[in-house]
Amino acid sequence: MLDLQNVSLELNGDEGKREVLRNINLKLENKKIYVMTGPNGGGKTSIAKVIMGIYPVSGGKIILDGMDITDKNITERARLGVGYAFQTPARFKGLKVKDILEISSDKEHPDQCQLLFDVGLCAKDYMNREINATFSGGELKRVEIASLLARNLKIAVFDEPEAGIDLWSFQKLTETFSKMNFESDTTIVIISHQERILKLADEVILVADGTISRITTQQKILAEITRQDALCGCRNDCIKGGAFGAECVG
Ligand SMILES: Nc1ncnc2c1ncn2[C@@H]1O[C@H](COP(=O)(O)OP(=O)(O)O)[C@@H](O)[C@H]1O
Ligand SMILES: [Mg+2]
Repeated sequence: MLDLQNVSLELNGDEGKREVLRNINLKLENKKIYVMTGPNGGGKTSIAKVIMGIYPVSGGKIILDGMDITDKNITERARLGVGYAFQTPARFKGLKVKDILEISSDKEHPDQCQLLFDVGLCAKDYMNREINATFSGGELKRVEIASLLARNLKIAVFDEPEAGIDLWSFQKLTETFSKMNFESDTTIVIISHQERILKLADEVILVADGTISRITTQQKILAEITRQDALCGCRNDCIKGGAFGAECVG
């Protein structure tokens, strides 16, 4: 239902224009979970921003359910059911959590308690809390994720949802993605490096060096990660020597 056709993106950096994305061809289907992973700086967030219309493409087309949305702006795409939870969410100072959920929701009577519960926040503590400097990055991310859950979306992109989130809430969040997938037809794209998120994937999209290097299965990726660990003799030797947590540099 969402089709990126030969998309490219140029952005102005410190040293002038540079090509951040090239030859992005991607077909995303309804009711599937895609996990996008790959090295830092590879272009994952840029793909998400291109889907949301935050970055206008330099070339190629974006088709949503047969409609060409390449020239549509963020607001128009949001109305059409495209949602994006930022890697680093904005701090809407002065608004209460319940206001954010209210503004975001396109449902008749959203169950705000449930929405907060789904992201591991206790409604009693958070509903009337004002967004201010005391909110941690992880709390802010979860409020933003809840605001996306409040909408009827065709496609929802979550950019590293696990960042800054404690283990218990992380577990809750993975269950929430599964529930969303079970209860709706929304296409879910999760940018993540976490094994537990990878295990949710119908397909894994590997992004590196501004392009999609491979589309594969979670089984293949997880097997490759395990094999790399096994092959990393230097790390294993370190661990045997008592240097726990040593990085593999081989
Ligand atoms: N607004 C911007 N202006 C210039 N360059 C950018 C901008 N945003 C990202 N980039 C560059 O694009 C590349 C891809 O970044 P990004 O999409 O954030 O990667 P990822 O999310 O995979 O870590 C990086 O080299 C980054 O420095
Ligand atoms: Mg990113």
